[in-house]
Amino acid sequence: MIDLRSDTVTKPTQAMRKAMAEAEVGDDVFGEDPSVNRLQEKVAGLLGKSEGLFLPSGTMSNQICIKAQTQPGDEIICEKNAHLYIYEAGGPAFHSSVQVMPVPGRLGVLTAEQIEEAVRPRNIHNPVTRLICLENTHNRAGGTVFPLEEIRRIRKTADAHGLKMHLDGARLWNAEAATGIPLKTWAQSFDSVAVCFSKGLGAPVGSLIAGDEAFIEKARRYRKLFGGGMRQAGILAAAAMHALDHHVKRLTDDHRNAKRLAEAIAGLSAFRVDMDAVQTNIVYFETCDPGLSAEEAVHRLGEKGVAVLAVGPCRIRAVLHLDIGKEQVEEAIGIFRLVFKP
Ligand SMILES: Cc1ncc(COP(=O)(O)O)c(C=O)c1O
Repeated sequence: MIDLRSDTVTKPTQAMRKAMAEAEVGDDVFGEDPSVNRLQEKVAGLLGKSEGLFLPSGTMSNQICIKAQTQPGDEIICEKNAHLYIYEAGGPAFHSSVQVMPVPGRLGVLTAEQIEEAVRPRNIHNPVTRLICLENTHNRAGGTVFPLEEIRRIRKTADAHGLKMHLDGARLWNAEAATGIPLKTWAQSFDSVAVCFSKGLGAPVGSLIAGDEAFIEKARRYRKLFGGGMRQAGILAAAAMHALDHHVKRLTDDHRNAKRLAEAIAGLSAFRVDMDAVQTNIVYFETCDPGLSAEEAVHRLGEKGVAVLAVGPCRIRAVLHLDIGKEQVEEAIGIFRLVFKP
């Protein structure tokens, strides 16, 4: 099966498994795991922040960042299709008792003007707007890159209103690979940043949040409270470190493969592809014929050996990743053409 459902389906390589097996470990809840400490220091440095904290998942990372920067009853602003709003099981309400102001973006991108409009005036009737959350790259918009200039404009708006900013950078490595703009520059405008090792980088588990010392001190306590304190987590940190050393440069291969696949799918009369949205490793496409549901299309492709994901009645997602090389992309294209005639 050529599995294009997600970049989270990758299996650790032999070299990664070896690095994990040989990892130096300690009890990370005591702060004594040398592999975790090295990873936290390295990634905080890459993000230009003073401290980092290793966490089990991207979801926990986003939710702890929200928790550490809000009070119950506050409001947070995010894009309407943000992962932390759509796919995290109501986490902002459940964990932080905050409500979300979802703002529709274009390709996942919000403007400073939209943020300005979404900020609540200080008035006893209103919730207090506290935090702006952006996603880069934006998963549900197609792996799209948030323009740096707009982030900087939004930061000015945030400052004018005394707001904090959080970045869901689960795929920030892809934004870096697509633009050549380093992580540090992307992260600069944010008070907290979350990155994942378990997406395009191909590690089995692991995320990291970064920010200043006071923020990480708070986040460390919430990690314990959320049940995310891990013991000999160096085994996982070693996988992440291996991914940083060996799997970052190759992300451009995924981007190239995504373009190739998207163009081939766009060439089929059965599907529509918004090529503007194909900027990194994710390809969304829609069925053109109302008689062909996404479920049906996914089923027919699955029968021939390509797994993709239905994400709406007529919307389907394919994601390129470490375990999909150029040859498998060509094979997948062949299967698309076989099942849905050009
Ligand atoms: C943009 C984004 N943020 C956060 C997450 C959550 O990561 P995890 O699955 O590790 O909880 C994902 C997962 O795909 C994601 O795409």
